[in-house]
Amino acid sequence: MHTKSIAFGLLAAAAAASASDVVQLKKDNFDEFVKSNDIVLAEFFAPWCGHCKALAPEYEEAATSLKEKNIKLAKVDCTEEQDLCQQYGVEGYPTLKVFRGTENIVPYKGQRKANAITSYMIKQSLPAVSVLTKDTIEDFKKADKVVLVAYFDANDKTSNETFSQVADKLRDSYPFGASSDAALAEAEKITPPAIVLYKDFDEGRSVFTDKFDAEAIEKFAKTAATPLIGEVGPETYSDYMSAGIPLAYIFAETEEERKELSDALKPVAEAHRGVINFATIDAKAFGAHAGNLNLKADKFPAFAIQETVKNQKFPFDQDSELTHDAIKAFVDDFVAGKVEPSVKSEPIPETQEGAVTVVVAKNYNDVVLDDTKDVLIEFYAPWCGHCKALAPKYEDLAGLYAKSEFKDKVVIAKVDATANDVPDEIQGFPTIKLYPAGAKDQAVTYSGSRTVEDLIKFIAENGKYSASVSEESAEETPVAPAATEEVHDEL
Ligand SMILES: *[C@@H]1O[C@H](CO)[C@@H](O)[C@H](O)[C@H]1NC(C)=O
Repeated sequence: MHTKSIAFGLLAAAAAASASDVVQLKKDNFDEFVKSNDIVLAEFFAPWCGHCKALAPEYEEAATSLKEKNIKLAKVDCTEEQDLCQQYGVEGYPTLKVFRGTENIVPYKGQRKANAITSYMIKQSLPAVSVLTKDTIEDFKKADKVVLVAYFDANDKTSNETFSQVADKLRDSYPFGASSDAALAEAEKITPPAIVLYKDFDEGRSVFTDKFDAEAIEKFAKTAATPLIGEVGPETYSDYMSAGIPLAYIFAETEEERKELSDALKPVAEAHRGVINFATIDAKAFGAHAGNLNLKADKFPAFAIQETVKNQKFPFDQDSELTHDAIKAFVDDFVAGKVEPSVKSEPIPETQEGAVTVVVAKNYNDVVLDDTKDVLIEFYAPWCGHCKALAPKYEDLAGLYAKSEFKDKVVIAKVDATANDVPDEIQGFPTIKLYPAGAKDQAVTYSGSRTVEDLIKFIAENGKYSASVSEESAEETPVAPAATEEVHDEL
């Protein structure tokens, strides 16, 4: 009886699985499936993931209701298809992506409910470009903060296709419209083919008149849609940091003051458009960020430029007034390379007390970039618990090398990254990196466990000198660090 009911259960499960409208894909059929369907929603999942389990029945239901519209829902088990999931940049579960072929892939941005998935995918399957007439175009121009309208001849299939391709890709960002009515183009004072980006800020519209090319149009859309003076906040910060050009911050505490300063500095921003991004930042909410730019965090308004690639800071003197002329002169000097970056540093230690070499911003290059030495450096924060736990082991490690034949070849160092500007991008504390001798541009970040043994292995494997020391000798040293720690704990 018991066996039978299990068998029956399995049969039922098998029947249910085969009845599913969700297509399970693998590495060898994924691309073909995606290419042979106009639009596919793919879920990348792991069987153990709770959110994936919660999504499963919703996903099934959506797949069934989208069947008649010929919109396919697929799933990929990432525990079995690791290569495939990596190829499509899956970093968490579940990840949902909308595929139009294997080139045009966008993240699914809807809710994870059957109804929401269904309506989102139906919208995605409709043309991304609305065909506009003289009756609809005026409303369309005001449909969002930024909209794009292409004007081309009815016979110009190439422009039509290229524009649709961009629209498919950016449809979640902006509304796209198009018209082949020559009278409308004339009213815009443009000659087709051309694109007008309408925006409810700055100059109100930007025009694209180059040859229609998907990449060029995309770039135009992004640049023209970025306000001349935007705003730094949690949603925009990472875009500014990855923009590849410096960011000029205008700190002010009230909206009124931010507007006043933006208006005054607009000509400066205009003159450096595409070279430096300008943005205001709410000093009441995010004033602490001023400290990261080596500004005093309690004196506003304030102005600073951050070179985002090298992470250098150029604070404008906080005792001077933020006038158009003063900022213009400062920014012009910055662009001309005449402003020195501000470097926050503790003083260089007069003597190095312990086995671990203390690095500060001012001796960073001399110590860390010494081309004759393998330098292991720990970036720490005084408040970081893991850093404190590592400290005695790190001291041991340094002691071992100091007493070894490698004492002039390997340096074990640390820097308080909250008190010193370092060129490295630090994601968390502690961060440990090895700068090998003779290859200082190829620093390796340590990701192993924080034990003396593994750190030695790391130095031996990645350093120029393959410097391996025996941990045994630690026990022979007269100072027993573990015991010292215990004594301190008891005090
Ligand atoms: C672009 O091409 C599509 C498909 O052929 C067509 O339906 C649409 O009307 C064209 N757009 C314009 C503005 O002519």
